[in-house]
Amino acid sequence: MKIEKSGTLKLFPTYVWATQLSPETYQPINRDIQSRLEIILGQRPDLRGSGQWQTDQDLHRHPELTGLNQVIMSTARGICDSLTLDYDRIHITGCWANVSNQGYPHKQHIHPNNYLSGAYYVKTAAGADAIDFHDPRPQAGLLVPRARNQDLANPDRITLNVRKGMLVMFPAWLQHSVPPNRSETTRVSIAFNLMFPDFGERMASPLWQADTSTDWS
Ligand SMILES: [Fe+2]
Repeated sequence: MKIEKSGTLKLFPTYVWATQLSPETYQPINRDIQSRLEIILGQRPDLRGSGQWQTDQDLHRHPELTGLNQVIMSTARGICDSLTLDYDRIHITGCWANVSNQGYPHKQHIHPNNYLSGAYYVKTAAGADAIDFHDPRPQAGLLVPRARNQDLANPDRITLNVRKGMLVMFPAWLQHSVPPNRSETTRVSIAFNLMFPDFGERMASPLWQADTSTDWS
């Protein structure tokens, strides 16, 4: 058999973008976020005893989030540019904190009505340091043969280990979940969504070009 050329085409890839900030960058960011969360927690003492809670979705509007907002925005623009998207503006549409005590998971979900979503990790610990991504192809779950070597090519769920100061971004349609907090400390992450504010006005016209050569006469 003579083969001139052979290759594997990776069609329709699903991207997850991970960024680990350096301590000199994340330490002031985390300090600011913690100070805002302490204010929120102080105003909502009824939530202290619960195992899991989320803040309101306007966290990004508080001045203590300015540092994180800048990191999110520059990463989002880098993502859109790397995908060569023809866009003008993208902005944060919602941002909230997830605080989980021991034993609490976050079930599988997506973030509707946005283009990008993400999470930033303020505080992790062994056993509270992962996010799971699920295969977005529904047909692929029909047959999942056991693989001799687990790598990125064959599982139906991929776990990403996360650390303090890590930013993870992904398409808002990508199913994800968080395993139960198996540590004895509180897990704190900041979740957020991004969308093109002028999507309908600027980006929603049909992708195809009109065939102006058709003759109706
Ligand atoms: Fe989420």
